[in-house]
Amino acid sequence: MTKKQVITIAGGGSTYTPGIIQAVLKDSERLPLEEIRLYDINQERNDDMKLVIDFMLKQEGHDNVKLISTENPAIAFTGCDFVFSQIRVGGMKMREQDEKIALKHGLVGQETCGLGGFAYGLRSMGGLLEVVGYVQQYAPEAWILNYTNPESIISEAVRRQYPGIKMINACDMTISIEDTMAANYGYDHTNWVSSYYGLNHFGWYTEIYDKELKRDIMPELIEKLISQKMDVTDANAGDTSWQEAFGMMSVITKDFPTHIPNNYLEYYLYPDMVVEKADKNYTRANMVMNGREKNTKEMANKIREGKTEDVLNFNFGVHGEYIVDMATSILNDEHRRFMLIVPNQGAIPNLREDAVVEVPAYVGATGVEPISLRNPIPDFHKGLMEAQVAAEKLLVDAYFEGSYQKALQAFTLNQTVPSARVAKIVLDEMIEANKEYWPELS
Ligand code: G6P
Ligand code: MN
Repeated sequence: MTKKQVITIAGGGSTYTPGIIQAVLKDSERLPLEEIRLYDINQERNDDMKLVIDFMLKQEGHDNVKLISTENPAIAFTGCDFVFSQIRVGGMKMREQDEKIALKHGLVGQETCGLGGFAYGLRSMGGLLEVVGYVQQYAPEAWILNYTNPESIISEAVRRQYPGIKMINACDMTISIEDTMAANYGYDHTNWVSSYYGLNHFGWYTEIYDKELKRDIMPELIEKLISQKMDVTDANAGDTSWQEAFGMMSVITKDFPTHIPNNYLEYYLYPDMVVEKADKNYTRANMVMNGREKNTKEMANKIREGKTEDVLNFNFGVHGEYIVDMATSILNDEHRRFMLIVPNQGAIPNLREDAVVEVPAYVGATGVEPISLRNPIPDFHKGLMEAQVAAEKLLVDAYFEGSYQKALQAFTLNQTVPSARVAKIVLDEMIEANKEYWPELS
């Protein structure tokens, strides 16, 4: 019998928590639970979430699982087995700033890409390093499963400060792309073995082998993508911005039909189109605040009022399942395959060794075993990635050195930025907006 696990969710008040817990409960044989700890610096959100999770535990017959919510790191982390990290330093309010400041100056305004992503990166590094520090202090044996954004930047920062850390960095975007392609074009993605390379939110599929059909189906998926845009089928069904994001996969594939792209490449390849269709007064952050955040608050309020019907009446998607699959793969040494964000070290042979890349990897009790591509990648992808890696490294340098010059270099090199002039204007405005969060840059 597997030992019952203590799971701490850092950023417990997040709207993603119910989906994660739902997935954990669904898999309670492979991931038996002793205790769930919600750790958050925002007590109100964390208390709301405690109500929701308590309701879920009772409804699913798991009331033997202990549940706490706390702002105290010693209570949150001491002796835990897994930390799921999903903190968002500055919350949605600062996401809104990231998006709007960039857009105001005619640049892509996005959560993880472009200068919005860099602003978030400079906030997020400190927050996550703090969490990692707590885990080192209170639960050095615990595995951290991190999906705090922006992930490439976070991974680079953590790797510099804690080189041997037991942390897995994963993003749900590839699984969500595969899920969506399979649903739209009539496949079962659980039969797929995918090959992919890139950086986080910045990569390409090279092969999708279907174990049932016994062939690489990427060529036919490319044809399908070109001839018919996909509908969003998962938790984001009906969401217009996700609909557009998946639609952009068809646009990119039409222009570059050698690979299947990650939809996030739209921000680097077509920044002008992205800015043109954006509403600079109502960005993605506003949609999320008025959607997912409101729904979550409503869930808590319904429970508070003693309602028991239709409380959890929405689809939480694949995000939670992905995290639970990783945890069980470690716990039960399952050697499942995931796309993970890891130090390159030869996985992409013609890219610098110290880049943080996203490639397939197997996960078991001893951790992550990334796959080496063996073949060099084409110049187009390599050139794009090299510029992005250099920009991200400069940003991490800026964080650790407190260097304005490095930050300006990072902002200028970002592929969504056409001129150093605008890079500097945006940087200066973002410094003001992020006074509470960024290290001082001089
Ligand atoms: C995907 C990405 C995440 C990102 C999220 C944003 O799941 O992998 O990294 O944070 O989308 O979604 P939202 O609905 O908040 O815009
Ligand atoms: Mn992601």
